[in-house]
Order: sequence, then structure tokens, then C-alpha cells
Amino acid sequence: MPSYEEVFRASTEDPEGFWLTAAGAIDWDTPPTRALDSSRAPFHRWFPDGELNVCHNALDRHVAAGRGAQPALVYDSPVTDTKRTYTYEELTDQVATFAGVLAGLGVGRGDRVVLYMPMVPEAVVAMLACARIGAVHSVVFGGFAANELAVRIDDAAPKVVVSASCGVEGARVVPYKPLLDRAVDLAQHKPDACVILQRPEGPAELTQGRDVDWAEAMREARPADCVSMAATDPLYILYTSGTTGKPKGVVRDCGGYAVALRWSMEAVYDVGPGETMFTASDVGWVVGHSYIVYAPLLAGATTVLYEGKPVGTPDAGQFWRVAAEHGVKTLFTAPTAFRAIKKVDPEGEFTRAYDLTGLAYLFLAGERLDPETYHWASELLGIPVIDHWWQTETGWPIVANPVGIEAAPVKAGSPTFPLPGWDVRVVNGDGKPVPPGEDGAIVVRLPMPPGSLPTLWNDDERFVSSYLSAFDGYYLTGDGGHVDEDGYVFVMGRTDDVINVAGHRLSTGGMEEVLASHPDVAECAVIGVADSLKGQVPRGLVVLKAGVSTDPAVIEAELVQLVRDRIGAVASLKEVAVVAALPKTRSGKILRRTMRGIADGLDEPVPSTVDDVAVLDALRPVLTRGSAGAAEQ
Ligand code: COA
Ligand code: AMP
Repeated sequence: MPSYEEVFRASTEDPEGFWLTAAGAIDWDTPPTRALDSSRAPFHRWFPDGELNVCHNALDRHVAAGRGAQPALVYDSPVTDTKRTYTYEELTDQVATFAGVLAGLGVGRGDRVVLYMPMVPEAVVAMLACARIGAVHSVVFGGFAANELAVRIDDAAPKVVVSASCGVEGARVVPYKPLLDRAVDLAQHKPDACVILQRPEGPAELTQGRDVDWAEAMREARPADCVSMAATDPLYILYTSGTTGKPKGVVRDCGGYAVALRWSMEAVYDVGPGETMFTASDVGWVVGHSYIVYAPLLAGATTVLYEGKPVGTPDAGQFWRVAAEHGVKTLFTAPTAFRAIKKVDPEGEFTRAYDLTGLAYLFLAGERLDPETYHWASELLGIPVIDHWWQTETGWPIVANPVGIEAAPVKAGSPTFPLPGWDVRVVNGDGKPVPPGEDGAIVVRLPMPPGSLPTLWNDDERFVSSYLSAFDGYYLTGDGGHVDEDGYVFVMGRTDDVINVAGHRLSTGGMEEVLASHPDVAECAVIGVADSLKGQVPRGLVVLKAGVSTDPAVIEAELVQLVRDRIGAVASLKEVAVVAALPKTRSGKILRRTMRGIADGLDEPVPSTVDDVAVLDALRPVLTRGSAGAAEQ
């Protein structure tokens, strides 16, 4: 077995050869003769002359190879008391039939389909059905409100929206249909049709002339075949938070993504054909796209789709139950899920009820893995706990402990080494490399490997201005951190207005736009403060317009509700405080970072540029009220 260093060197010295070899693990209709096309740099494209179908690679090829009877997808839903296993053959049939439903609604190659779905098998079926007929799916996380869905509908301009009558959030049934109806009302673009999956927990009344019942349509549809796509064609758009309220439509291509994910399954996650991966995330996030849906199926493995929470549905032992019942080898979730389990079951009593001898790895990502959670999980499970760092934009991990190639000793707080294909650097504000151990902006030298975003949907300009213009020849990750003398990467947090709440990426700028829209608000700031469960939670500070006499408590409650209504429950903005003034620099910039430091209980220096120290001092008691968890981070 080659060492990590050898594999990494091969990827940097001969990327062309490295990725063409990796491409050999994929079924191509037209095999690529070249790996990288840089003729339109900085828009690099992978496998420019290759043709394939990603759904064929995820399903049909395994059936053809004799794996038809093997479990492909295990649906485990404690919140609806349902368990169901789909073999590769069954899943292929379902997907081909739903592809026929979409085709019957006029969806074809290149058309967009927005999916607004809870964690049900039909969400996976719909994604793969799009891939089958060359349609571009865009999954919107169910925790987003109607307005966020409307923004995405307008940007993606889908021919069809696929949704369900409801989601089940713990003990609560969340009706999706009213949110969908409102979103379609709000959007300028109107889809031709909406396919609605009726769920027994909360059926919905269908809208005549627009809505199609999932089950009825499936009964009537004729299965559709895979169509051949260019490797560079888009497979999906996934919207993610930027620094403003307008989300970025990250584009994923077909060929580069399939090759990178297929390669990552053994090299990063050590999961091969016939083995089981349980990724406890949501299909609305990139982790769900890549490691619930596409990668395990591309590898011919079994994937677990879990509809529930780590705790409370009904207890803190559900991850262990799922792992034991379904023979899970690799479990992947966000650190926040483990903090939630630790809070309820600090001694890990629930693990004792299950046979976890088959569980070989725990992978964590989505936010920084704080050393305390790392140690707790390692001691509890006695298996390698792998922190790894990536983003919606990159599609698969940038930095990880490459256990599938060669495990490195762990340094708690570091996701370890850059994976093959990723040339990670840390630079200062002038773009100069910083010495080992010194913090700076983490950047990746172009071209990035296959699987990473080629551009933003319909917005090459924003792609360049957001990611490529800060430092020529480099992709700006938006994360800050350092690399130590041994080459370990430490990712310390975002350098922009993006925060991570319970592993969910959110924009404080977007929340500020909502607060500012309240008629009584003169100005506002939203900061992410440390939280011992969710990693970070947003906190709002608002200054009211002169002459407003409403009780501040009333306005605060209205603002909390406004963010919930406009962005969604997932924003988790529970605290808004009316204050007399916001601290600013002399040039008028709000001192968000300073306020965040104070709220986190850090010894935050007062910037020399502060306009009025008294304003900052007056705010200290408000900022430190109820702050928690900073020390653990
Ligand atoms: N549909 C509707 N509402 C949703 C939703 C969905 N798909 N997902 C979340 N929400 C709601 C929740 O019910 C909650 O509402 P509330 O404020 O009325 O209680 C709110 O959005 C916030 O959700 P969340 O941040 O998930 O908080 P929680 O208290 O429900 O659960 C954790 C906290 C830590 C248990 C949970 O976030 C978790 O398991 N996270 C880790 C796994 C993960 O998904 N990571 C993502 C990337 S890897
Ligand atoms: P998302 O695009 O939702 O996957 O969020 C990506 C962001 O989550 C990154 O830019 C980081 O800020 C953060 N993140 C993800 N994984 C890690 C990790 N292992 N360590 C530190 N931060 C992480």
C-alpha cells in the first residue's frame, strides 16, 4: 500500500494521471481522454470529453454487476416508527419510474427541479431520478421558510417542484404544503407542476391544476432510461449561505463529482462495496448530497437514511441502535450531535445496550470539532474519531486524516492533513504565506480537484468575486486558521459573516437584512456567539428609530418571530436585544468581531479605531448575558 505522502505527491506531481486513473472506477459512455481543461482559467473543468450518467453509476451498474439483491438504502425513521430496506434493484425501479413521472411532466435534460423534502426515501429517489434524465436538482433544506424557498425557486427557475405534505420534527409534524404554496406565491417564477408526496402523519389538500400526487403518478408512469451527459454538465445546484441574504447557487458537475466521491469512499472513509455507511445529516445539506446519497451508492455500498434526531427520538441511543441494527461500518455526523448526546447521556450508558463491534470509524464535520467532544467520543467508542474539514463548495473533504490510505496520529483540534488534490496554504492579508503556527486566511491553490464547484449558477461573476479575486490563483475558503510545523491544518473559524449553528451554515448578513426590515429598527447587527450545544448561535442587537415608544420586549419578540418566518426555524435566532447604540469604528463600521469576542468571554482588545468607547462599555453587560461555552471551544 502506498503511503499518504506518496499518494499526495502523485496527486500534485501528475494530477492528470492521478485523476484519469481514479476515473477508471466510473462507468463512462465515452471515457475521458483528458483529466483537466484549464483553457478558460480560472474556470477549470474536469474530464472535458467524458460522457456518463451518474444515476447509472449509482444504481444500474450495480444491478448489472449482480448486486441487485444487496441493500442500497435503509430508511430508519424512529419518528414515524418505520424501517424499510430498498435493494439496488428496488431502488433502481423506483428511480426509473419517478424519472418517468418527471419526463411525463415535461422535464428533460438541463431543466431544473427543486426538491423541498423531509428525510424520506422519496427524496433520494427524486434526486437520482433527476440525474437519470439529465435534469438539475436543487434540494432546499426543510427547515427553511417559504421566503428562502421562493428565493431559490426564482434563482433556479424549476420546471417542477417536488415536495411532501409534511415533515416530522421530533414529536412535531411540520406541514410543508402551506410553506410550498406561500413560496410559489412569493416567487416570480412559477413551476409548471408540483409533485406532492402524501404522508400519513399529515396529508395535505392538493392544489387543483398544479399539484400531482406522488403515488398516483408513480402508478401511471413508464420507467425512463439513463441519458448520457457531458462530464461537465451540471448535476445539481445547492444553495448555501454567503455574506448577504442572497444565497449562492453552488454548481456541481457530473463527471468530476462522480470520480472524486467514488475515490473518497475507500481513501477517506474506508467504505467499499457491500459495506454500510450511516451519515446522520440531511439531504438538504452538502453532507447529505455527497455521503447519504451519491458516494455510498457510487461505491456499491449501503447507505442509511435516518429520519430523527440524535436525542429525544426517543432517546440518546438511536445512533448506536442504527449502527448495530444495520451493521454500520462508518458513522458520519456533526460534532453538535455528539454534544447533544453527551449532554443527555454523559456516561454513554446507551452504548451498552448495543453491539457496536462492527462500527469502525466516527467521522465528524460541519463545524470545528472541539477537543473536549473529540476526547469524549474517542473514549466512549474506542474507535478512530476523524475530524475532517470541507464546505458546500468543495463537495468532499479538503483536509482529513486519510485512514483509508494511512492513518496519521491525531492532534485534537486539527482535521489533520490536506487530502490528495488539495493544495492548501495559509496567507496573510497581502497574500504572502505565513510561517507555521501563525493564523491567516486558508486558501487553496487553483485548480481545485474534481468535485469542487466549477462556478455559481448563472453567476460566473459572483463566483470570481466571492472566491477567486482576493488572492490571484487561489480559492478563498472563508475560513481562518494555521498549519503547524508537522503540516497539521487547524481550522479555527470563518473570517466572514457566515456562522455555523448546529452544523448548519447560516448568514448573519441575511438575518440582519430581516431585522432591518422591521419598521421600528434603525440599525442592527447579528453576531454568532459560542454555544456549548450548537457550537454557535446567532444573537441580534438592534437600535430603534427615534420616537418609537413600543415596549422593547414586544419588538424583540416580533424580531425573533420575523427571522423564524422569513428564514426558518433552522436560523435558531432566539435572542434579540434592543440597545441604545452599536459600537463602531470612526469610519462607521460596526465592530461585530469585538462584540463577538466580548460575548464569548474572551479578553477582547478594544480596537484603536473605535469611535466611542463608552458605547462599547455600555454594551458589555448585554453581550455577556447568558454567554456560554466559549471555554470549551
Ligand atoms: N424541517 C422543519 N424544521 C426543522 C428542520 C426540518 N427539516 N430541521 C430543523 N428544524 C427546526 C427544529 O425543529 C428547530 O425548531 P425549534 O426552534 O422550534 O425547536 C429549529 O429548526 C432548529 O433546529 P436545530 O438547530 O436542528 O435544533 P434542534 O434543537 O432541533 O436539534 C441538534 C439540535 C444538535 C440535535 C441537531 O441540530 C442535530 O442533530 N444536528 C447535527 C446533525 C446535522 O444535521 N448536521 C448538519 C450538517 S452535517
Ligand atoms: P457547509 O458549507 O455548510 O458544509 O459549511 C462549511 C463550513 O463549516 C466551513 O467553511 C467551516 O467554517 C465549517 N467546517 C466544516 N467542517 C469543519 C471542520 N472539520 N473544522 C472546522 N470547521 C469546519
